[in-house]
Amino acid sequence: MEKIRVGVIGLGARGDYLVDLLLTMDDILVTAVCDVYQDRVDRNAEKVEKAQGQKPLGATDYRELIAAKACDAAVVVTGWEKHVEIGIALMEAGIAVGMEVGGAYSVADCWSLIEAYERTGTPFMFLENCNYGRYELLVLNMVEMGLFGDVVHCSGGYMHDLRTEVLYGRENRHYRLKNYLERNCHNYPTHDLGPIAQVMKLGRGNRILYLTSMASSAKGLNDFAVLHENVDPALRTAHFAQGDVVVTSMMCENGSTITLKLDTTLPRPYSRGFTVEGTRGMYQEDGNFVYLDTDFTEADHFDWKKNWDNADKYLEKYEHPVWKKFLNDGVRGGHGGMDYLVYDDFFMALREGRPMPIDVYDAALLMSITPLSAESIKGNSRTVEVPDFFAGRNQKK
Ligand SMILES: NC(=O)c1ccc[n+]([C@@H]2O[C@H](COP(=O)([O-])OP(=O)(O)OC[C@H]3O[C@@H](n4cnc5c(N)ncnc54)[C@H](O)[C@@H]3O)[C@@H](O)[C@H]2O)c1
Repeated sequence: MEKIRVGVIGLGARGDYLVDLLLTMDDILVTAVCDVYQDRVDRNAEKVEKAQGQKPLGATDYRELIAAKACDAAVVVTGWEKHVEIGIALMEAGIAVGMEVGGAYSVADCWSLIEAYERTGTPFMFLENCNYGRYELLVLNMVEMGLFGDVVHCSGGYMHDLRTEVLYGRENRHYRLKNYLERNCHNYPTHDLGPIAQVMKLGRGNRILYLTSMASSAKGLNDFAVLHENVDPALRTAHFAQGDVVVTSMMCENGSTITLKLDTTLPRPYSRGFTVEGTRGMYQEDGNFVYLDTDFTEADHFDWKKNWDNADKYLEKYEHPVWKKFLNDGVRGGHGGMDYLVYDDFFMALREGRPMPIDVYDAALLMSITPLSAESIKGNSRTVEVPDFFAGRNQKK
């Protein structure tokens, strides 16, 4: 079987790690690496040559990679600002796109991704790894088996203390700092909304009609800068536009509701807070528990802590088939294996010529929450309509 020739565009923290991951995959070859920084290109080109015995194309401009026809597929792992521009250029060139996660800068950008896909028919996959998380898929499986009854509410968040990542942005040449200085929105909605979209069948018979967002004040980054002398002193008093906590509520066509939380600049442990509530049961990531009407009664409602982590018991019965196979074959890759699963699914879909599991329409919806939340926050939590990106799904392959 011919190996898929893959290019990696963006070789920062994530891209550097992804090159290592891709080098462990049997059915692909890394044939191009690209970053605006030459040192990052050189480092990754060396790694690839060492592992594959052949030097890949090294480029500081993604257009070189396109002109050289160096790959069949490319993964876009740059900062968020460049995702849409590079994704469209790749589609125009007939190079299949795997796009890393992040929010869009405008709703028009989301439509332009769809337009480019429909115009070119080039495969496009949004690499939302959390859709492949073990517990996210357990819950999806249980929902599809009807165990939760009708799902009426889901919540989630991107709750990750990123104060160091943001504040050392200049030293680490990282894109987040500029974003936190200039934007106020749910800037990273896809890890939380992606798995919820699967459960709620968004774009597959259901859709979000409108949303409203609210942002707290921005105090966490300044305070951290004051307390840590190695942080650039200018950031102690810099004006950060990004509120510390952004809460977004959404209404779906089928009457179900969703709430999302961005919480990245205050002290806290990591969580995506994935929670699914139906008429017959629920799952909650914080505490990692399942509650089914069939298994518990009102007598269990208080003293509930003893049931934390009971989701593991449900894995025995309801493990998703994707994870059953993965455990059998041997779990690989970072983030508990979901990175490997999402990349593997992308390459398998490409090889088999089947529709992308998380397609350009899904990407447009997930990415649009960022500019829509910004608009709502700016308008004092004004209700903002969410476009129906799915009308054209599968119009053209
Ligand atoms: N799925 C996940 O779990 C996960 C985890 C981390 C990051 N990410 C995503 O990966 C992406 C990168 O994140 P990161 O933390 O590695 O950021 P980073 O700032 O460390 O790296 C981004 C890299 O892109 C390069 N770049 C910028 N513009 C470019 C261009 N025009 N052409 C080529 N290279 C360019 C930068 O020089 C930098 O090296 C983001 O979209 C982020 O959301 C996803």
